[in-house]
Amino acid sequence: MNQQKQSLSFTGLPAYKKLSDHHKQIKNVHMRRLFSLDPKRFEKFSIEHHGLLLDYSKNRISSETIALLCQLAKEAELEKWRERMFKGEKINNTEDRAVLHTALRNCSDKPVFVDGEDVMPKVRAVLEKMRIFSGELREARWKGFTGKPIKHVVNIGIGGSDLGPKMVYQALNPYHHKKIKLHFVSNVDATHINALLKKLNPETTLFIISSKTFTTQETLSNAHIARGWFLKAARDEKHISQHFVAVSTNKKAVSEFGIDTENMFEFWDWVGGRYSLWSAIGLSIMIGIGAENFNKLLQGAYDMDEHFQQAPLEENMPVILAMLGIWYNNFFKAESHAILPYDHFLRGLPMYLEQADMESNGKSVDRDGRRVDYSTGPIIWGTTGINGQHAFYQSLHQGTKMIPADFIVSIQAHFNFQKQHNIMFSNVLAQTEALMRGRTYEETYAYLTAAGEGPPNLSKRIHHMVFEGNHPTNTILIEKLSPRSLGMLIALYEHKIFVQGIVWNLNSFDQWGVELGKQLAKQILDKIYQPNTVDSHDASTNALINYYRDRVRLD
Ligand code: F6P
Repeated sequence: MNQQKQSLSFTGLPAYKKLSDHHKQIKNVHMRRLFSLDPKRFEKFSIEHHGLLLDYSKNRISSETIALLCQLAKEAELEKWRERMFKGEKINNTEDRAVLHTALRNCSDKPVFVDGEDVMPKVRAVLEKMRIFSGELREARWKGFTGKPIKHVVNIGIGGSDLGPKMVYQALNPYHHKKIKLHFVSNVDATHINALLKKLNPETTLFIISSKTFTTQETLSNAHIARGWFLKAARDEKHISQHFVAVSTNKKAVSEFGIDTENMFEFWDWVGGRYSLWSAIGLSIMIGIGAENFNKLLQGAYDMDEHFQQAPLEENMPVILAMLGIWYNNFFKAESHAILPYDHFLRGLPMYLEQADMESNGKSVDRDGRRVDYSTGPIIWGTTGINGQHAFYQSLHQGTKMIPADFIVSIQAHFNFQKQHNIMFSNVLAQTEALMRGRTYEETYAYLTAAGEGPPNLSKRIHHMVFEGNHPTNTILIEKLSPRSLGMLIALYEHKIFVQGIVWNLNSFDQWGVELGKQLAKQILDKIYQPNTVDSHDASTNALINYYRDRVRLD
């Protein structure tokens, strides 16, 4: 019955029509005007939760916009779906799976049931196993085959089994263990792993093979290279157990690879790959920052889970971020969304969110399999903001495309470089202000004449130096980048993605779109080794396979 109701198309919801009408009224209103009309705009359009501040006042919205967007979320039955997710119902309908990354960070004593079983005891048991193992490594009690302590840990994984742990490890640099260094290998291009192995000593290196399925070609092929490199030095397979552990849902494949399942850290099919850093996939993080800090990361995410479940929609950070995204994506027809952390340690965040968001909501059929007639997940992209300023910001300011952006920065710097931090912070505000206000013809004229410019330079340049402004941004201020605040930030984006998926009526938790390429890659690999000329593909693919085969040694 409810499933039936959920099938109501996004564009058929009553609030969608109201928002379309409202959009006509507001689309040409400049944010300068909105700010001048309402000096309380910041108070009205900002939310603070446990030291995380979202200022969304520099958006092309009024109170009516927010009310209508929240109405749209309600009509899409967001609250009901949110409850279903947290309760462990199988909302991933194409894979018949629950979606319970929130159980991994459930810091309460409440049970979470999947198929009638409370999953919390096994979640806690794996966390405990991770704590013991990472403690042994960190305290140099876990020894390599020649009795030396481990100094380098290499996580081999790809996608969700790489991007999350790598991003978090980078982000929490000040919390790193002093003697153990983490490395992340994902690319099947062997130059990646080979360049790393050259620097490492097999006696002091431990590999974590991280793969939910343990069938991913890139990961297994890198794992075999690592195994070969290790055995060349260790000369006996019995030493593998001291240097290789696995994180997976697939016990059978782990043991077939030759890793003792005693050295396997388990997780479950109700943890999506791109939502898995909270699970045993976070083992590398725990080794890097310690169990106590890992728990704080979980605690931060839990804080956001609580906020997401309890705050009214109008004051709910993930809901507001999500609905603003929908406002631009579906009404202003913006095609992308930029993630701009002003923090070197957060440099992995844009790439992490590319997967989290685009693999979740880059879908063109709704959850019932019907082709959608509206735009879904935007292109997510970005880099550290300060570098972006000297690269692509020109287009943000004066290009023809609307590119909404999130500016993310911490208040407290980690190291004692306060002056540098002040420079960075002022750049964030300068950019968001410039994007919002722009610079009018009159202001540009005054600026040029004050700088002593007269004709002909003035008339030649003035039109190029006018900024229209009215570009929407969110500013996210983090009190200090710590395990807890990072946990909150990541969970904020996870829930934003969830909300958008619900409103667009998508299943955000499958990823069939990456399968076809994987299947074809296997077929093409076989063809590369075939003795005959390849003619079973299209003319372009045939010719390229044959061209390649003619030029490489295949033995
Ligand atoms: O390529 C898509 C994908 O299935 C991702 O969803 C996943 O994070 C990644 O591959 C890695 O998968 P696995 O952890 O099973 O190796």
